Amino acid sequence: MKRLTGNELRKMYIDYFVSHGHKQIKGASLIPENDPTVLFTTAGMHPLVPYLLGAKHPMGTRITDVQKCVRTGDIDDVGDNSHATFFEMLGNWSLGDYFKKEAITWSYHFLTDPEYLGIDKDRLAFTCFAGDETVPRDTESYEIWRSLGVPEDRIFFLGREHNWWGPAGTTGPCGPDTEMFLIMKEPCGPDCSPACDCGAYLEIWNDVFMEYNKQADGSYIPLSQKNVDTGMGLERTIAVLQGVSSVYETDIYHDIIAKVEEICGKSVNDDEDTKKAIRIVADHIRCATFIMGDDRGVAPGNVDQGYVLRRLIRRAVRFGRQLGFPSERLEEVSRVVIDTYKEIYPELENNKPFIMTELNREVKRFSRTLEQGVKEFDRVAAKAKETGVIDGVTAFHLYDTFGFPIEITVEMAKEAGLKVDAEGFEAAFTEHRKKSQAGSSQRFAGGLADTSEVTARLHTATHLLLASLKKVLGEHVNQRGSNITPERLRFDFNFERKMTAEEKQQVEAMVNEAIAKDMPITVEEMSVDEAKAQGATGVFSDRYGEVVKVYTMGDFSKEICGGPHASRTGELGVFKIQKEESSSQGVRRIKAVLKSAE
Ligand code: ALA
Repeated sequence: MKRLTGNELRKMYIDYFVSHGHKQIKGASLIPENDPTVLFTTAGMHPLVPYLLGAKHPMGTRITDVQKCVRTGDIDDVGDNSHATFFEMLGNWSLGDYFKKEAITWSYHFLTDPEYLGIDKDRLAFTCFAGDETVPRDTESYEIWRSLGVPEDRIFFLGREHNWWGPAGTTGPCGPDTEMFLIMKEPCGPDCSPACDCGAYLEIWNDVFMEYNKQADGSYIPLSQKNVDTGMGLERTIAVLQGVSSVYETDIYHDIIAKVEEICGKSVNDDEDTKKAIRIVADHIRCATFIMGDDRGVAPGNVDQGYVLRRLIRRAVRFGRQLGFPSERLEEVSRVVIDTYKEIYPELENNKPFIMTELNREVKRFSRTLEQGVKEFDRVAAKAKETGVIDGVTAFHLYDTFGFPIEITVEMAKEAGLKVDAEGFEAAFTEHRKKSQAGSSQRFAGGLADTSEVTARLHTATHLLLASLKKVLGEHVNQRGSNITPERLRFDFNFERKMTAEEKQQVEAMVNEAIAKDMPITVEEMSVDEAKAQGATGVFSDRYGEVVKVYTMGDFSKEICGGPHASRTGELGVFKIQKEESSSQGVRRIKAVLKSAE
C-alpha cells in the first residue's frame, strides 16, 4: 500500500482520471450559487447538477476535480475516528458518457494497483443496491465486481437507506450506488456488514449511477442521460494509506491538532473525553475557517450559512472551555489551518483579515452572552426545582437569546439535579429552523427580499456604486456583501481604510452623474468566460460554461448579476450616501438611499 500524503493523493487521483480522458476542473465555492436547496456544497456533484440534468459541459463528458465540502448533519459524531464537518472530496464524472463497467473497473484499479494506491484486495468490501419496488436490484454492478475477482462474500446487497445517493438537496439527480469499504477489523458477528456501525468497515469511495431526477412531489423520473458521479473521501483514504485509525491522525490534521494540544496543555492521549474535545475544536475551527475564507465567505449570523458557522464557533468555544483552552486563542488554530491549506486554497490567505476579525468577534460575543446566560440559567434552575425539568421553550430561550448550546444547558442542569425537556427544545428549534430555511430560500431568489420597483432601483444603484468605487478607490475593490430593503441599500466591499470625505463626495457625484445620463440598462446571457473577456465584474463561479446574466449600464458598469434592475438609470432619483463605516477588518460598509428628484 502506498503511504501518501494528502497532497500526493490529490495529485495521483486527478492524474489517473486525466489519463482516462477526464478534464480537470477547479472545485467550486463552498457556498452554492443560485441553489435554494442546500446551504453548503456537500458533494463534488453539486456544482455539476445542470450537466447531470443534460446541459452541455464545455469541458466535455468526462470531468474530474477536488471539491471542498461541508456537512453538518453528523456534527454530533465529530471527534470519533471518521467524522468531520469539513472534508475534501475527490471525484470523477461521466456526463452521459461511460457507465457502470468503466467506473467500477477504474475504481478497483486505482484502489488496488501497486502503481496507484496498492491496497490489499483482501481488505476491500463492496455494497450494491438490493432493489425495491421501483428500481431493480443492481446485479450488473455485482457481476462487474465479480469479474474483477472480488469474492462473493465481500459484496453485500443493501437497501435504499444505504445504497441510494442523492439528491443533494430536496430535488435533482440521484440513483443507486455501489460503495467501497476498507475492512478495518474483524466483523463483529455473522450478520455484520458495511451497514453495521461497529467500525469494521470504513467507507472510502462511492460510485453513484445517476439515472433519476427526484421531483418536488417525491417521485422519480428517468434522466435523459445516464451519468456516473463518484466521491472519494480524501481524509479517510489517507488515514488508511498512512496506517492510522482516524482522520485526525493524518498529516493534514497534524499541525492543527498539535496547536490545540499546545495551547491547552493537554493531549489526545490523556483520555477519551479530552481526545474528543481536542478533535472537535480542531474540526470546527478548520470548517469555520473554510466557510469564512471562501471567496463567497460569510460572517457568523442568525440565519443560513452564518447560523451554521455560529454554531461551529460556539461549539469550539464550549469544548475548548472543557479543555481549559482560552477561547481568545482560537485564532491561532485558525492560522494553522490557513498555513496548512494556503497552497491549495489561496483564498484562505487572501481572506485572512476577514477570517480573523469575524472569528474573534464571534468568540467575544459568545463569551459575553455566556456569562449573562449563566445568570439566566441560575434563575431558571431555581424555578425548575419544583418540577425537576427545564422545559423546552426555556432551553431554547437560553440557546436563542444567550447563545447557549443545548449541551451546556443539559450539562449544567445535570449538575443542578435537573433534566431538560429535549423534545420540547427540538420542537422549538425546528420551528426556528423552519423560519431560517424560509429565509434562505427567499434570499437565494436573486438576493432580494422585496422585488418591487423600489428595490430594483436600489439594486441598480449598487452596480453604479461599485463601478464608482472602483474608479475612485481602485480596481481592486470588489463586492463583499449586499443587502437591500425598500428603504436603503447596504453594500460591503474590500478596502483597507476609512474613506475620506472627498472620496465619498466623489463617489456620490459619480453615481449621480451616471443617473443623470439616463443610460439604458441592458441584460445579456453569456458564458462566464465571455463575461470575463468583456471585463464584467462580479463573483465568478468556477462552473465552466455556466451561463450568466450580465447587466450593462451604458459604458459605466458591466456586472454579472441575477437582476432585477431598473430599465434606465434615470429612474433612480438622487443617490445619497448616509454612512461609511467598518464592517470587519479590510471590509467597509456603505449605507445609501435614493431620494426622488425634485
Ligand atoms: N455524490 C456521492 C457522494 O457524495 C459520490 O457520496
